[in-house]
Amino acid sequence: MQISCTAKPVIECAADSLVVFVPEYEKLTDGLLKSLNEATGGTVGTLLEAGEFCGKREEIASVMHPSGYNVDRVILVGLGTKKQVDSDTYRRAAGAASRCRGLTLSESAIFHLPKNAGEGFYQAVIEGYLLGSYKLLEFKTGDDKIDKNKLTRITFATDDKRVLGKVEKAVNRGVIIAEGQMSVRTLAATPGNYLTPSVLAQTAQKLARQHKLKCHVLDEKAIERERMGALLAVAKGSAEPPRFVVLEYNGGRRGEKPVVLVGKGITFDSGGISLKPGLNMHEMKGDMTGAAVVLTVIVTAARLRLPLNLVSLLPACENLPSGTATRPGDIVTSRKGLTIEIINTDAEGRLILADALDYADRFKPQVVIDIATLTGASLYILGYSGAPVLGNNPALLERIKKASESTGEKTWPLPIWDDHREQMKSGVADLVNSGGRPAGTIAASAFLENFVGGWPWAHIDIAYVDFEPKGRPYIPKGPTGIGVRLLTEVLSSWKKM
Ligand code: BES
Ligand code: MN
Ligand code: ZN
Repeated sequence: MQISCTAKPVIECAADSLVVFVPEYEKLTDGLLKSLNEATGGTVGTLLEAGEFCGKREEIASVMHPSGYNVDRVILVGLGTKKQVDSDTYRRAAGAASRCRGLTLSESAIFHLPKNAGEGFYQAVIEGYLLGSYKLLEFKTGDDKIDKNKLTRITFATDDKRVLGKVEKAVNRGVIIAEGQMSVRTLAATPGNYLTPSVLAQTAQKLARQHKLKCHVLDEKAIERERMGALLAVAKGSAEPPRFVVLEYNGGRRGEKPVVLVGKGITFDSGGISLKPGLNMHEMKGDMTGAAVVLTVIVTAARLRLPLNLVSLLPACENLPSGTATRPGDIVTSRKGLTIEIINTDAEGRLILADALDYADRFKPQVVIDIATLTGASLYILGYSGAPVLGNNPALLERIKKASESTGEKTWPLPIWDDHREQMKSGVADLVNSGGRPAGTIAASAFLENFVGGWPWAHIDIAYVDFEPKGRPYIPKGPTGIGVRLLTEVLSSWKKM
């Protein structure tokens, strides 16, 4: 995909399609719309008057051959009521447009946003377009492997020369972030037989070389030397050895404390001896989404040259039942020394995160944020609409909530109370890994909290929101890749904590 920006008037630009973003009930007084109405012999106005195209959210209409313009068609894309237009409105509109016939038949397109659109909206449009047109073709063969979408060139046309530089930067940022999010989708969709813990680690090493990150991979021996008993307890049932990936990006001052990100990397979660039901178990190939997110975010931070020090930790293994698997009732010793009674082998994510959070302490972190497909219970809190966030520091939770608003990746805070901490205490060991059904998402966080050092910490539970069951404007059915936009935004405006 070739993406560029220009301050040339639209009428001087040549392309197969011209995509125009239109607020609801826009009058034909807007310069470009008025001109296009004339160029189409009044057709644009007729569409508006007849109510065939009103500019409602994600509404789309095309008109062929506007005279005087060097384009085959104009594609009108609705934004909804002006009062509610935010960056996600643009992201959705561009996502909807990305799959419309007129555009997929085009090889080149000009995108035009309304006059007052800030650069954040340009970023959102390219994100929405790329994310909306995302397809995983890797595992197809023959004809099905060929992308039917012909579009390879997008030009953003602005009416104002003075903002061209800003628009270019915003579009470039959007491309980098969307590419990151798409790579998370691809990793999440890649099945357990392709993406083993070792392959995930190799992927991280390859990306680290490309983007000049430090990368260190602990193999099974090294993980044993670290005494990561909780991670090893999960890995035990599988023939695939675990890996623990450490990535470092130093964009900040020397000696400045890093932000540490931790991502759950279960390459397949069968539940282990506490086996999951068969229905939709295949979707548990996506249980490494958290790890893919923190891998991608550190790469994205490097690509955007963010001025901070960052560490990403990816504990990775597979959760399978076998003769060597951990049993319910087993007691294991975590790296920190706390003993854990395994009540349910399907509560494996918190075990591998426990050792990773404890390991994070060696970096003397400014803050630690972990992200994980941790609890099915989170579906009953915010549904598919957003991710619960928990932690020990209101200011950090507030930063995450703020980033939600500008990225459209919604999150909302939940508390951790002493009752929940009680729920995770064991009669025979220090902790249980499952405290039963009540407040499942909070209980899991209360467990993790035991492994947090004296630093601000936040935990983002992306179970279920990691996977879109139906398809939305810029989120096709399948893995969503949620978390990249959110965390990149949190880090982009980072102030020392
Ligand atoms: N990976 C699952 C959580 C999950 C469920 C993610 C559905 C995405 C969609 C996690 O390892 C798990 O199995 N959690 C259990 C914990 C329980 C046994 C305490 C759960 O939520 O049921
Ligand atoms: Mn599980
Ligand atoms: Zn899991």
